Amino acid sequence: MQINEITLKDLNPESFIEEEVKEILSIVGDGCAINALSGGVDSSVVTMLGHRALGDRLKTYFVENGLMREDEPQHIVSLFEGMGVPVEIVDTKEQFFSALKGLTDPEEKREAITQTFYKDVFSRLVKESGAKFLLQGTNYTDVEETVAGIKRQHNILEQIGIDTEEQFGYKVIEPVLQLRKTGIRKVGKVLGLPEEIYTRLPFPGPALAARVLGEVTPERVKTVRKATRIVEEELSSSGAFQYLAILHNDTVSGMIEVKSDFVLQIEVRCWESKDAITGSPTRVPYETLEKLAERITTEVPGVVSVTYNITKKPPSTIEAV
Ligand code: XMP
Repeated sequence: MQINEITLKDLNPESFIEEEVKEILSIVGDGCAINALSGGVDSSVVTMLGHRALGDRLKTYFVENGLMREDEPQHIVSLFEGMGVPVEIVDTKEQFFSALKGLTDPEEKREAITQTFYKDVFSRLVKESGAKFLLQGTNYTDVEETVAGIKRQHNILEQIGIDTEEQFGYKVIEPVLQLRKTGIRKVGKVLGLPEEIYTRLPFPGPALAARVLGEVTPERVKTVRKATRIVEEELSSSGAFQYLAILHNDTVSGMIEVKSDFVLQIEVRCWESKDAITGSPTRVPYETLEKLAERITTEVPGVVSVTYNITKKPPSTIEAV
């Protein structure tokens, strides 16, 4: 991999911002670019860098793919509009769910998401807007893990030999490629992003699809979305690096309203980690675990079993898909 990492020790956020703004300007010239904002720290930083460099020659979209957390699109769009950055929500729910229909293999699901984003959605947005460039928030860890063959991150393209100009009709610009998450947070703070954004938990590009084992359907995403909200509420004071809910594919026996049936199980994970490269499970107090089980089984229809994962990364990964 020929990317020079900028470590925290060497990062000067002010000069990094200045250099990246210059770089974006020199690549895009007097043309225009698009980018997709998901509300995560990486894409938020890229949105602000792109906005500084290009002003209204950067068109920012929030791709509503049906896989995001509760109320996410409206919340993020209004935060950015408050900072003077207009964001358009594009409804692509049907495209994503039809691409994911019938797929159960994790790699096939990731590939379907990659293709839908880059070949269908971004190609169309590029055409409609007249842009030739896509700005995206790929970071150093994403590339490192993909190149090392640990897991194909959905946003890795050129680094594994995909020529985006030839395949999709636009060039990809990756301003935070040399940074890891902690460095990106520092840059976000200096860029004036709200604390809620620059301290945000990592969230995967494939969104809740990374947390549904087996087929990703609107119904199953709805289940994991509800469980995610509860997990985020209950673990927000834990100070952990990341916490998540996973919907399992196997059903287990359980008792719902006296009738015994085979019903759903949710796995909770909560990670201590610096940069997602390695991780260990947080020693969540037993009372919190009990509360999680109680809330998830009463508030999420169909769930009768809640487990807590105590495995380290490696051998596990942080997400389940
Ligand atoms: P894993 O599951 O590989 O996750 O241990 C490491 C970190 O990366 C996030 N993650 C992703 N981020 N695209 C992303 O932008 C992806 O496809 C993706 N998959 C996982 C994950 O949430 C964790 O913080």
